Amino acid sequence: MLEVSNLCAGYGAIPVLHDISLNIEAGESVGILGHNGMGKTTMLRTLIGALRASSGSVVFNGSDVTHAAPHARAKLGMAYVPQGREIFPTLSAMDNLRMGLVKTGERSLDTIEALLEDFPRLKPLLDRAGGALSGGEQQLLALARALAGKPSLLLLDEPTEGIQPSIIEEIAETLASLRNRMKLTIVLVEQNLEFIAAVSQRVLVIKRGQIGGEIPREHLGDFEIMSQYTGVHG
Ligand SMILES: Nc1ncnc2c1ncn2[C@@H]1O[C@H](COP(=O)(O)OP(=O)(O)OP(=O)(O)O)[C@@H](O)[C@H]1O
Ligand SMILES: [Mg+2]
Repeated sequence: MLEVSNLCAGYGAIPVLHDISLNIEAGESVGILGHNGMGKTTMLRTLIGALRASSGSVVFNGSDVTHAAPHARAKLGMAYVPQGREIFPTLSAMDNLRMGLVKTGERSLDTIEALLEDFPRLKPLLDRAGGALSGGEQQLLALARALAGKPSLLLLDEPTEGIQPSIIEEIAETLASLRNRMKLTIVLVEQNLEFIAAVSQRVLVIKRGQIGGEIPREHLGDFEIMSQYTGVHG
C-alpha cells in the first residue's frame, strides 16, 4: 500500500532523512521506534507532503505521490495526526471534529455520530473548547478528527507524548478496535515501548534519519531488549 524508496529529506541544506525505504501492506500496523531527534517527525511530514523530498519516492496505492501536495495525498486516503495534536484550541470539540469532514466535503454529521461510538470519552465534551480538554482527551479528539475523513492510512506521531498511562491504554485499545473494523493501515512513530508493542504488528527502528533494522517479533514486549535496539548512543 505504501512503498517508500530511498527517501531523503531535510531542512534547507541540512539533510535529516537518509535513504529511508519501507514497504507497508494494506491493513498492517507498523511501529517506528526512535529517540528524540532521530527523524521521526521529519519522516512523517515528508510522507504526507508537508516537507519536500530531496530524492527518493513515495508510492501510495500505486500512485506516485512524491511531489503531490498534502491535500492531494489526503484525498487519496492518507491522514496524519501530528505530534502535539494541533487541536484548534478556541473551537469546540465538535467543531474540531467537523474540520475532519472538510476533506470529504461531507455535510451530514452521520460519520461523526458513528465515530463517537468508538470515542465514548469525547461524547460529554463536545461543547467544550478544544484547548480546555486534557492532553489525553485532545489526543482522542485529534484521532477522531483524522478518522472523520475516512482515511485508509493513518500516520501517528507520538500519540502518547505527555499523556497519563490510563488514557494511553485507552488509546491503544481504541486503535486496535478501529484498525480491525475500518481496515486501517497504521504507521506509528513512538518512543513508548509498551504502546508501540501493543499497537504494532512489526516495529522498525529509526536512528539518525535511517531505518536501522526491524525488531524481531519475539522481542516485541520484552522492553529491555527493545530498548537495546534503539540504543541512545548506538
Ligand atoms: N524546522 C527544522 N529546521 C531545522 N532542523 C530541524 C527542523 N525540524 C527538525 N529539525 C532537526 O531534524 C532532526 C530530526 O528532527 P525530528 O523532529 O524529525 O525528530 P524526532 O525523531 O521527531 O524527535 P522528537 O522525538 O523529539 O519529536 C533533528 O536534528 C532536528 O533538530
Ligand atoms: Mg518528533
